[in-house]
Amino acid sequence: MFDAVTVSSRAKADALVVGVFQADSGPARLDDATTALDETETIAEARRRPECSGELGSLSEAFTSGRSPVRVLLVGLGEKNKLTLERWRKAMTSALKRLAHVKAAAARLEFAGPLDSAGLDAERAGVAAGEVAGLLAYDADRYKGAEARKKKTRPRLALRSSQSPFERGLRRGLSIAQGANLARECSDAPPNIANPNWMASRARELARKHEEISVTVVRGAALDKERLVGIKTVGQASVNPPCLIRIEYRPRKPAKNARPIVLVGKTITYDTGGLSLKIQGSMAGMKHDMGGGAACLGAMHIIASLVRPNRPVVALLAAAENGVSDNAYRPDDVLTFRNGKTVEITNTDAEGRLVLADALCWASDKEKPQAIIDMATLTGGVVVALGSTYAGMWCDDDDLRGRVEAAANATGERVWRLPLHEEYTELMKSSVADLVNSNPNRKAHPIQGAAFLQQFVADGIPWCHVDIAGVSDVESPTGPYVKGATGFGARLAARIVEDWR
Ligand code: BES
Ligand code: MN
Ligand code: ZN
Repeated sequence: MFDAVTVSSRAKADALVVGVFQADSGPARLDDATTALDETETIAEARRRPECSGELGSLSEAFTSGRSPVRVLLVGLGEKNKLTLERWRKAMTSALKRLAHVKAAAARLEFAGPLDSAGLDAERAGVAAGEVAGLLAYDADRYKGAEARKKKTRPRLALRSSQSPFERGLRRGLSIAQGANLARECSDAPPNIANPNWMASRARELARKHEEISVTVVRGAALDKERLVGIKTVGQASVNPPCLIRIEYRPRKPAKNARPIVLVGKTITYDTGGLSLKIQGSMAGMKHDMGGGAACLGAMHIIASLVRPNRPVVALLAAAENGVSDNAYRPDDVLTFRNGKTVEITNTDAEGRLVLADALCWASDKEKPQAIIDMATLTGGVVVALGSTYAGMWCDDDDLRGRVEAAANATGERVWRLPLHEEYTELMKSSVADLVNSNPNRKAHPIQGAAFLQQFVADGIPWCHVDIAGVSDVESPTGPYVKGATGFGARLAARIVEDWR
């Protein structure tokens, strides 16, 4: 919607955005701090309009008189005692979309009164507003032709606020959104462009921008040498070769003995299902099967540009295209993984866990991790269970789970815990190898995935698996997102790192 959003206190504001709560009875009432801003009584005029209900996300407008009138946009914040960060994000989405629609160039956001009375922290509210604005500045027309791109004029918006913690939050939020948008760009890129090597180039681009970031790519013969059999095997049908992309953030002065947090991302640049081919209708959209890896890359962007922790962070993107050819892996194949476990392939469409198994083995033996968090568009089953409202989360380490849940609450990237149990591990036993990659009876499919992955994490390492199949993209415009990738996981992972003490 926007071409770009910045924070600037210089531009003369052509819009003033303020908020009003819904009253228990009767018309919505302005608070004192907001009324004090109302030199020209234009806010009061907007308040008197019949559409001003105070309902969450409702909008009413009025204009100051004069040669360059200022638009007053009065945003409904719903009931005062219900205003959460999540509802605040909704209100901001509504307001900022309106600003885009009317091509506002410079807006003041003044919410000190309502935020204070609802007990919302001004900086956190600023971050949320900045995130929404940044997400709305995503370029969804990248693959439109030159003609169409020329016709679209998208406004640039400068934001500011007289409340300095809020304004500081806006800046932070905008840069966090850049990381999420990087993830969206990768996931939305068509699969004839976004292949494993292309993802490696995106990672190298990030390394060029930040001296704390370095990238290594394991490909070709090195995959054999490192015994990364899952990545190699899943990718072997495609002309686009697979790779493991390792992105490391290392602070100039790391804290003593600080061990890295390792992020692992499923980066299947296209999932045809392989020889267990996806049926009619279920293949389109599988360019998004790299959402986990894209989120890791986006998180590394936020970590290097904003969070800048004093501990190392490593992202491992297990990248392959799950294609079909005479060289494709097949049901009945048996693979021996880096940790010695053998896997009978029962379904080549359960490919994500195979590439992730490599990255989990690698993280376990080479990175001395403090914790491992993997993100993957792993199963359709999690979409059935949780829809697009929560990602599925598996984590039996109480400390790590607390951190992931806290980060989910802070960022609005929701996770819901699902169980691991030995009985699920039983489902993964094979008659010919140690494990099957999928039990042919479809019981507890998302949990099967988690139980399988668990076999590749060394004992004692706190590990969390996040299945983002339902939240990684949206089928139609939703909240601040256009149809396509949401970048889910970039903010969540960056936040886990940020809050790690
Ligand atoms: N990438 C898919 C999962 C998926 C499905 C993501 C729908 C987004 C939307 C994954 O590789 C897959 O094919 N999963 C199978 C697993 C099964 C074969 C064990 C599934 O969920 O059906
Ligand atoms: Mn699949
Ligand atoms: Zn897949």
